[in-house]
Amino acid sequence: MKICFVCLGNICRSPTAEAVFRVQAEAAGRHDIEVDSAGTGAWHVGASPDERSSAEARRHGVELEGRARLVHAGDFEYFDLLVAMDRANRDDLLELAPSAEARARVHLLRRFEPDRVAGAGEDGPDLDVPDPYYGGRTGFADVYAIIERSCAGLLAHVSDPSNR
Ligand code: 4NP
Repeated sequence: MKICFVCLGNICRSPTAEAVFRVQAEAAGRHDIEVDSAGTGAWHVGASPDERSSAEARRHGVELEGRARLVHAGDFEYFDLLVAMDRANRDDLLELAPSAEARARVHLLRRFEPDRVAGAGEDGPDLDVPDPYYGGRTGFADVYAIIERSCAGLLAHVSDPSNR
């Protein structure tokens, strides 16, 4: 199975999700899951992860890796799942998807967050991993916690045979 996490800049949220999910999957013995990340915006292409995201991850013993790249139509052929950090990223992916089959591979990360109750069936702001780029350090800590919970839920989802 191959999963690509997608945000806007590919320097904060999606590299965090990529690294966190990789650690969780390895710990669960799922060495067969390949993970990557990409962005819908080109501003930071080639850049390393944001130092504030890296610092937050490091506090949890997780190292962020890779260089920012743009998501492209070929990603829909390569990856089984394209997991968006917020609804804007999701909508951009749906626009880029070359077919209905490709659109079906697009998901919102927070749909997998355990114990979702409030507005669970609605397409509201509680489904977004907030964009931390212009926020303070608290924003990065909150974002990390949301990503950690939601990635655990995603791993449980893809490990459940009834979801195959
Ligand atoms: P990310 O955060 O989408 O989580 O990587 C952002 C990084 C850069 C920008 C916006 C969000 N930007 O506008 O440059």
